[in-house]
Amino acid sequence: MYPSNESRSAALYERALRVMPGGNSRHTVYFPPYPIYAVRAEGARVWDADGVERLDFINNYSSLIHGHNHPRIVEAIISQAGRLLSVAMPTEEEVRLAEIVCDRLPGVEQVRFTNSGTEGVMFAFKAARGFTGRSKIAKVEGAYHGSDDTASVSVAPDPRRWGSAQAPASVPGGGSAPHVSEDVVVLIMNDVEASRRILRAHAEDLAGVILDPLPSHLGYEAATPDFVAMLREETSRAGALLIFDEVYSFRMGFKGAQGALGVTPDLTALGKVIGGGLPIGAVGGREDIMSGVFDPRPGRPRVGHGGTFNANPMTMAAGVAAMEMFDETAFNRLSALGERLRTGLREAVSIARVPATVRGAASMTSLMHIADPPATYRDLVASMQANPKARERAQSVFQQLLSRGVIIGAPGLFVLSTALTEADIDKAVDITLEALRRI
Ligand SMILES: Cc1ncc(COP(=O)(O)O)c(C=O)c1O
Repeated sequence: MYPSNESRSAALYERALRVMPGGNSRHTVYFPPYPIYAVRAEGARVWDADGVERLDFINNYSSLIHGHNHPRIVEAIISQAGRLLSVAMPTEEEVRLAEIVCDRLPGVEQVRFTNSGTEGVMFAFKAARGFTGRSKIAKVEGAYHGSDDTASVSVAPDPRRWGSAQAPASVPGGGSAPHVSEDVVVLIMNDVEASRRILRAHAEDLAGVILDPLPSHLGYEAATPDFVAMLREETSRAGALLIFDEVYSFRMGFKGAQGALGVTPDLTALGKVIGGGLPIGAVGGREDIMSGVFDPRPGRPRVGHGGTFNANPMTMAAGVAAMEMFDETAFNRLSALGERLRTGLREAVSIARVPATVRGAASMTSLMHIADPPATYRDLVASMQANPKARERAQSVFQQLLSRGVIIGAPGLFVLSTALTEADIDKAVDITLEALRRI
């Protein structure tokens, strides 16, 4: 039973605290009183250091599209490991994964690999700045795009500093150079007219606009078609680039969010799923932009792109295996599981009569412990302030699920894998209903 001071996880955390600040290397996986240490996994299940088995409903925040240790992915990794771990040369696996990604995404004619989504986003910014010769990037307030300085602006700004909704302030993230805010323009999600005005005011300096079409802080609610259309129109008008951050939203459609929304960005940042469970990121986009800034053949490229482990053969082999299996049939089955989960959770919320909202798309679902679904980051902050118990309720549901054998993302995130079955979904819904009844 979690938590227990007698557990091996508690003992491991004690050791971890001595050698790592807060005991870990990734804030997302810490939760009080101590995180549970994993030992092994198979399919949809993970076993912890105390031998407890749980269903995995977060799948390493999306990267494990086929769950754990899929035999075909493991086989690809083992076979690759036997031949070549890493090398200062390109490999056929890199070419193959690039072909798959370019075939799949309408906005990606060429691609380059990195080791994380953070780097994919960072190189999208560099490509936009290198191609346009301009400095400013626009982003949506509250949207998370990884840890790059530009991306870290106004992810969770303090309301005392965020300025008016008509002209949001650009608030640097902790540890970023303060002057980064001069080059970042902040927009409010789905506010078409204010955003249009802001983009026009900065048009001459604007290199690009980045959008996560399905932001997790709003419960995986897609950007409105009007907002996306306006961004497409205004970037083209300004001679700036539209960048989709599809590190997460790639799961939204068989051809990513861009396929689902029918809007083609100039650049796309990728990560997670395309690496088959190993570390990956990528930046892709229009051929003229990609070759214009990254092609080394004419001499010194406009944007340098090194990286000891870029396109490492292990990740490429895992990514090829995972992507080949994530075909349209697999995508549709996974989305149907997502729909079953959302329907079940909505019923659970209504039976338990708790103030909560279920949102999401395809294989991503969010159980938000507030009755009114937020439209923007500011709405979300206002709702959380008006419902001081919301955080406690989320924490309680998360911990009850852990104790009953289901792992979700702590704020209430369910991200599915093809290893899950309808019975697993129904089990998670039943356990969530019991948890909601108890809070
Ligand atoms: C939308 C989005 N962009 C970028 C990133 C950063 O990716 P990574 O964690 O691989 O650096 C994430 C990670 O969760 C993300 O959700």
